[in-house]
Amino acid sequence: MIFAANFKTNHTRASTKEYLLALESLAQKSSDEFYIFPPISALCSSASKITIGSQNAYPVNNGAFTGEIGLEQLEEFGIKTILIGHSERRVLLGESQEFIAKKFEFFKNNDFKIIYCIGEPLEVRKEGELKVIEFLAEQFNAIDINYENLIIAYEPIWAIGTGVSATNDQIALTHKAIKKICNKPLLYGGSVNSSNIKNVLATQNVDGVLVGSASLDVQNFFNLSK
Ligand code: 13P
Repeated sequence: MIFAANFKTNHTRASTKEYLLALESLAQKSSDEFYIFPPISALCSSASKITIGSQNAYPVNNGAFTGEIGLEQLEEFGIKTILIGHSERRVLLGESQEFIAKKFEFFKNNDFKIIYCIGEPLEVRKEGELKVIEFLAEQFNAIDINYENLIIAYEPIWAIGTGVSATNDQIALTHKAIKKICNKPLLYGGSVNSSNIKNVLATQNVDGVLVGSASLDVQNFFNLSK
């Protein structure tokens, strides 16, 4: 199983370092895969089995893009993993599908492992499963679904940070439909925590989880895999 921690705008460089050391020791004997996505100021190299990825980067080597980082800054730390398409970037930062696809292409061409995030807002979920799939299918526009280094993360926007996870039936139905569009490892994200993790992981077509709040404490995060 894959366990990915998205710190978002939490943790510092110092606390990320401590977290990483703790996770390395906790996960030593585990056969699961662990990823952490710290804030950009806390990016660092990892010589262990824990993969460090970037929550974002601009699709350039370097250049005049105030406030952004590019490939050169990621390469300094040997970072070869990136989250693309997270709903917080789509909605709060206004990233269009066109721009997201450009980012995808750039990091694909640089052999990155891409965790590509998709997810629908509540008003679409309320219209039923068919509309949800139509909406999600559009988020694959101009995305190379056959890219070998691709992991998909399904994160319904209404489940992110709300404490209301999708139900097992919803996850099962939606994941089945997503797998038909793109047959890649598929993570679920959205209020995953210690109370629902067993059910989420037992759901068909769930290959792991992308966790926000419940990943911020390292022991909590690791316990999700036990
Ligand atoms: P929460 O686990 O806090 O709902 O966040 C999920 C998420 O957005 C991970 O990318």
